[in-house]
Amino acid sequence: MPFRSRYTGLIDKYRDHLPVHDDTRIISLGEGNTPLIRLHNVSDSIGKDVDIYVKYEGLNPTGSFKDRGMTMAVTKAVEDGSKAIICASTGNTSAAAAAYAARAGITAYVLIPEGKIAMGKMAQAMMYGATILQIKGNFDLGMDLVKQVAKEAPVTIVNSINPFRIQGQKTAAFEILEELGFAPDFHCLPVGNAGNITAHWMGYSEYHKSGIVNARPKMIGYQASGAAPFMRGEMVDNPETVATAIRIGHPQSWDKAWALQKESHGWFDELADEDILAAQKLLALSEGVFCEPASAASLGGAIRDVKNGKIPEGSKIVCTLTGNGLKDPDTAIDQCANAKMTTIDATLDEVKRTILDSMAG
Ligand code: F0G
Repeated sequence: MPFRSRYTGLIDKYRDHLPVHDDTRIISLGEGNTPLIRLHNVSDSIGKDVDIYVKYEGLNPTGSFKDRGMTMAVTKAVEDGSKAIICASTGNTSAAAAAYAARAGITAYVLIPEGKIAMGKMAQAMMYGATILQIKGNFDLGMDLVKQVAKEAPVTIVNSINPFRIQGQKTAAFEILEELGFAPDFHCLPVGNAGNITAHWMGYSEYHKSGIVNARPKMIGYQASGAAPFMRGEMVDNPETVATAIRIGHPQSWDKAWALQKESHGWFDELADEDILAAQKLLALSEGVFCEPASAASLGGAIRDVKNGKIPEGSKIVCTLTGNGLKDPDTAIDQCANAKMTTIDATLDEVKRTILDSMAG
């Protein structure tokens, strides 16, 4: 038969590399297997000889990389008999937790910072039926509360401090290695709690140990300047950035992230909000790929480090686009004040005239 077998999610595909048993009930929405897109126009516009690929994690079922970790975390929670999961979130984790809880038939409690969640993420948590606790405080405070309440109530934490989250998320590195057939020279990610960069390093390292691909990339973590504890060398108490997904001042995977930065010979750096938004727009306009602001920090940082020579010519670079642009329509529309949009009468004459005028320049 000329048909490929059906893709049934990353646990099924990578079960030999994940902590599941043959009889584990898998809670999946078909996550993973996301496109690795080679950028043509962006690379050309930089004027340097580099290959840049973006791993478009925004095409996961709930629109972010969190689904990779959540399929594992919820599968294991259910296996352990848990009836409720809980997380603090800047938005995407809450969307993923709510969706996988719905799929499993259990309850999701999500703590989110009031007024600091992108609209799409809020809509998701509501639609998937999570119990939403808006707190008058930021993500870091929410995370502290979640850790405390989990000691006193029968709820399983599904933030990236749950080791199964990292297990699921490491599969992104597997997919990249399989698709390229080699490890990239540099892997760039936006960093908040640093769970995802930790997970990628775990994935690359497992392949490396197996000897299948005998190389690992240098890992580069980019933060927003107003929320850049890795650049300050200490926790930041009042993080602020337009990239609300990474508005985090107390990263949960602090030590692991420093360790992998050293081991991989990579680095951390920061971007101003304007530079994050400029990268988001450049990617959409010149490649047709729409990611959310936080995600664009990886590409914005990579472009800058190619231009300034920190990433040398000849390099192969993968940037993770962690979330879909549709998650945050408000920030997108705010940036498009000059969008080519006019209101006209609904007549053939008007439509024709407008198109011909536009073509004439
Ligand atoms: N990009 C996006 C779109 C995110 O939602 C997050 C984290 C990150 C990057 C950073 O990943 O924390 O593993 O370093 N979002 C979490 C949430 C905090 O609650 O959705 P990290």
